[in-house]
Amino acid sequence: MPNETKHNLPANFLLGAASSSHQVEGNNIHNDWWFWEQKGKLPASRVATDHFNRYKEDFVLAKQIGLNAMRISIEWSRIEPVEGKFDSAAVEHYRKVLQNMEALGLTRMVTLFHFTLPLWFANKGGFEKKKNISLFVRYAQFVVHELQNEVNLWATINEPEVYSGNSYRVGVWPPFVKNIFTSGRVFSNLAKAHIAAYEAIKKTTPKAVVGLAKNNVYYEPSRSRHPLDRVATYITHWFGNRWWLNKLNNKFDFLGLNYYFYHSLKFNLLKGVIHVDKTAPKSDMGWRTWPEGIYHLTTDLWSTYNKPIYITENGIANARDDMRQDFIEQHLLWVEKAIHEGADVRGYFYWSLTDTYEWQDGYNPKFGLIEVNFESQVRTVRPSSEIFKKIRP
Ligand code: BGC
Repeated sequence: MPNETKHNLPANFLLGAASSSHQVEGNNIHNDWWFWEQKGKLPASRVATDHFNRYKEDFVLAKQIGLNAMRISIEWSRIEPVEGKFDSAAVEHYRKVLQNMEALGLTRMVTLFHFTLPLWFANKGGFEKKKNISLFVRYAQFVVHELQNEVNLWATINEPEVYSGNSYRVGVWPPFVKNIFTSGRVFSNLAKAHIAAYEAIKKTTPKAVVGLAKNNVYYEPSRSRHPLDRVATYITHWFGNRWWLNKLNNKFDFLGLNYYFYHSLKFNLLKGVIHVDKTAPKSDMGWRTWPEGIYHLTTDLWSTYNKPIYITENGIANARDDMRQDFIEQHLLWVEKAIHEGADVRGYFYWSLTDTYEWQDGYNPKFGLIEVNFESQVRTVRPSSEIFKKIRP
């Protein structure tokens, strides 16, 4: 832990929280997740947190706990429920949502693709097919142009490696494919999709600030001086954290870092590279927490790409709320250390503002700063949220 325990974040630093459309809005009936939920392959999201109707209440709470920014996502299947038919009522809905955030003084970051696809696009093969990329680009270009005055920062794609891995390699997300080659193709097509969207957006909306959110894992050698552990770590880091970003040819105005995981790597003659866990606190999902990793990853991103960085996600599933405050505090202290050493980190978005529909794990994991009772939809601010006022009184 850095020695400095008093917070000293830059005055214009964004302190926010994140969410994604399908995880909170409810009734996203035109996307691929909903389709598979009805088939019983995935937990039913139903009305989720009913954020579609309760966004005002949620943003007021965000403001009350001391946040000055929010990252939300736009649901492509609402904007374009049928191929080529853009729904102006959906655009106007998001305009109202975003104007409401602005009125509350919340800086707005918006993601264009956060894991869910319109069913028609999924049925055409989604990002498996290179020729489908232009359909995503058309949607992205349209939305950014329409909502250009309501958004401060755009993120094209959320976590390309998590999406292509879970959907096409591990096969636990739609379309439940288990094929390493298909997964690789999707991963690579997502890089092409980002570049094409970036270029198209800049043509029609030059003022738009466009980046993306990448989930990077902090890898360290299990035995710090062991040459094979060090080589294994470097290679894993390069492929896992840099390869995809390198493919983007600097076509991004900022980088979003989602940080949840670290792995300590050990080379073993018989088994190859194995993961060894540190003795570190575990979240309710069994994920070990390692705040220092955020420092190494942000300094690495900064020295490699030299673009502004936002921590677009960092959070913990912790129903008892006895780890969250310390978790946030420690991560922010390491972010501050990176800033003081010169990294241009401009904001931190905790995942998530409220409890959400946590994909294949349904409603069990509790990531929220605000607890949601999914029967009554009553919101209760968790005590850990006080950290933000402590950091910025
Ligand atoms: C995703 C979120 C998810 C969170 C916690 C991130 O990988 O972007 O959608 O809820 O992790 O699992």
